[in-house]
Amino acid sequence: MDHFLYRSGTLHAEDVALADIAQVVQTPFYCYSTATLTRHYKLFTEALSPLPHMVCFAIKSLSNLAVLKTLGELGAGMDVVSGGEYMRAKAAGVPGDRIVFSGVGKTRDEMRMALTGGIRQFNVESEPEMRALSEVATSLGLVAPITIRVNPDVDARTHEKIATGKSENKFGIPIARASEVYAEAASLPGLEVIGIDVHIGSQLTELEPFEQAYTKVADLTRQLRAEGHDIRRLDLGGGLGIPYARGNEAPPLPTEYGDLIKRTVGDLGCEIEIEPGRLISGNSGVLVSRVIYVKEGEGRDFLILDAAMNDLVRPSMYGAHHDIVAVEEPEPGVDTHTFDVVGPVCETGDTFAKARPLPQLKAGDLVAFRSAGAYGAVMASEYNTRPLVPEVLVHGDHYAVIRARPTFEEILARDTIPEWL
Ligand code: LLP
Repeated sequence: MDHFLYRSGTLHAEDVALADIAQVVQTPFYCYSTATLTRHYKLFTEALSPLPHMVCFAIKSLSNLAVLKTLGELGAGMDVVSGGEYMRAKAAGVPGDRIVFSGVGKTRDEMRMALTGGIRQFNVESEPEMRALSEVATSLGLVAPITIRVNPDVDARTHEKIATGKSENKFGIPIARASEVYAEAASLPGLEVIGIDVHIGSQLTELEPFEQAYTKVADLTRQLRAEGHDIRRLDLGGGLGIPYARGNEAPPLPTEYGDLIKRTVGDLGCEIEIEPGRLISGNSGVLVSRVIYVKEGEGRDFLILDAAMNDLVRPSMYGAHHDIVAVEEPEPGVDTHTFDVVGPVCETGDTFAKARPLPQLKAGDLVAFRSAGAYGAVMASEYNTRPLVPEVLVHGDHYAVIRARPTFEEILARDTIPEWL
């Protein structure tokens, strides 16, 4: 359940009418619900209780400081994959001992930043990275707590661009070589080996791939312990999917996911970490846009919106489906009309949906893309010199702009003309 519901015939975010925000902020904009973010975070903490655990929000899915502060104040940890995300977590007031550093190519500068600023653990992904981290930590007179990300060679059965747990993917070390790599890690002076990390992909809609991966991690835990390693923390990654097409999809619930974790790794006495992004942020956000024109085409009608692929790239990049709804609630039983929903950007890929049944919308009407909180604003760009899409956070009956739309002057001022011109 989220907190975007029709009230008195118009779509609200909690107690605020989206049309009222549109009046002030103009379109397009992202709008997030504090209550939904909170609810989703708590679903995970409840699902993992009573195991000792930490839910580390994957910042990459939605990185606005106000969102991070909202979750951080509830006690959430953060999963970061760059120096920039690390800075965001710190700026949102999250202490270093709640920040986990993931990612396949951490630079020495990023390692230094996290080691000096405080870190819960690095999830190391390769031997060269492990050696570099040991060197950086030693040069600072510190010891880096690490897990090693293992690649369990499991098919996550998700979109090929977001599957990460097969041996052909660039992530982690092959689980078959774990023994050898852990032995080397234990011998490096700047590292303290504390656990195992795994993440097999994103938008998983079945539990079975998780079950396979976590069973392998449980076996590996026993094996590494027998080899003398003090494995006390398991980072099980993120990836639990959300229903994008409501009514047609029912991915597993966090409680079922929690039960699976308890069943597969719960008896090992390890502290459990998870790194969910999408399940916390996805249905906590909508993208609100206005219809610019309705254009009659050859055998199809186009709904031309003021949002485009630069604001929400998922449909064009992954062929992803987002439900699109009219902000003014259609009368029950009203006829629908089939539209191709497109943006104004100059390429055919700027298409949000084809042959989508919608109410008979007209120019000036508002629409909302549901489930747009995750990998929406964070993947937005200024392609076609369209100003970076603003973000709004609702809390009960009030809201705040948490990232303003830049002016054209601000956009142009970021470029520099060299002195020879
Ligand atoms: N941990 C690691 C190491 C990850 O690589 C990811 C996502 C997560 C956690 C969070 O996964 P989630 O719970 O959000 O599924 N841009 C794509 C999704 C890319 C996911 C990348 N990694 C999309 O729009 O679908």
